[in-house]
Amino acid sequence: LAKARRPSVVYLSFQECTGCLESLTRAHTASLETLIFDLISLDYQHTIMAPSGDAAEASLAQAIKENDGKYLVLVDGAIPMADAGYGTVAGHSFADILRDTAKGAAAVISVGTCAAYGGLPKANPNPTGAVAVSDIVKDKPIVNVPGCPPIPVVLTGVIAHYLTFGTLPELDHLNRPKVFFADTIHDRCYRRPFYDQGKFAKTFDDEGARRGWCLYELGCKGPTTYNACATVKWNGGVSFPIESGHGCIGCSEPNFWDKGSWYTPL
Ligand code: SF4
Ligand code: F3S
Repeated sequence: LAKARRPSVVYLSFQECTGCLESLTRAHTASLETLIFDLISLDYQHTIMAPSGDAAEASLAQAIKENDGKYLVLVDGAIPMADAGYGTVAGHSFADILRDTAKGAAAVISVGTCAAYGGLPKANPNPTGAVAVSDIVKDKPIVNVPGCPPIPVVLTGVIAHYLTFGTLPELDHLNRPKVFFADTIHDRCYRRPFYDQGKFAKTFDDEGARRGWCLYELGCKGPTTYNACATVKWNGGVSFPIESGHGCIGCSEPNFWDKGSWYTPL
């Protein structure tokens, strides 16, 4: 049993900022170290893998060949479709890499809003023709873990569920795991009593802001944003944007940037 092979995971990065992987490195349960040393075999990941160049591409090819039908694919970043040359690795376009890698996968996890919905690369005017993973992969189970970046323990939680039960968690209509995305930020926000009483901060430094009143009139998108920030929080459960005095910008929602997520006081 000690020699049993850990499940193979390959992690592809396309049009992204590396924030999703940065976020994953801050997971506290399970930590990234626990994941890659004890639970999975992370066979390909540009940023943290030891091999580079041809050796890195050989690792990907080997993982696909030896784990046909069994490996998990994680993807961060959107896929540019306006021109194959907008994103390539080892001479292959991002779209081809995704198609070829997903072909033998057990499932694909879209890590972050760019992979799940197109995210910032897809924001108007979308010069690269960016699309989501689900626009290209049509014949595999897909789990969307949106967020810009996603909450690290939400991602490790999905992976842990798959490793423990051999199945994907229950998903909603946008392929998000219901256990983390069933409620809005507003449903669980600790400032909600102030919202219900009509006590709103009007500026970021007024008396209401100092007293921790609701940030809705400063543009908080919590009422329309599904994510687990208000319960799971960030940095090991320390805080989340609203607790730090800044409203939610809806970063886990489709097209959040084009929907005006920056702060425009109402
Ligand atoms: Fe809702 Fe945002 Fe106000 Fe919290 S700060 S109660 S999420 S509107
Ligand atoms: Fe994103 Fe809103 Fe959470 S901005 S990090 S979904 S509080």
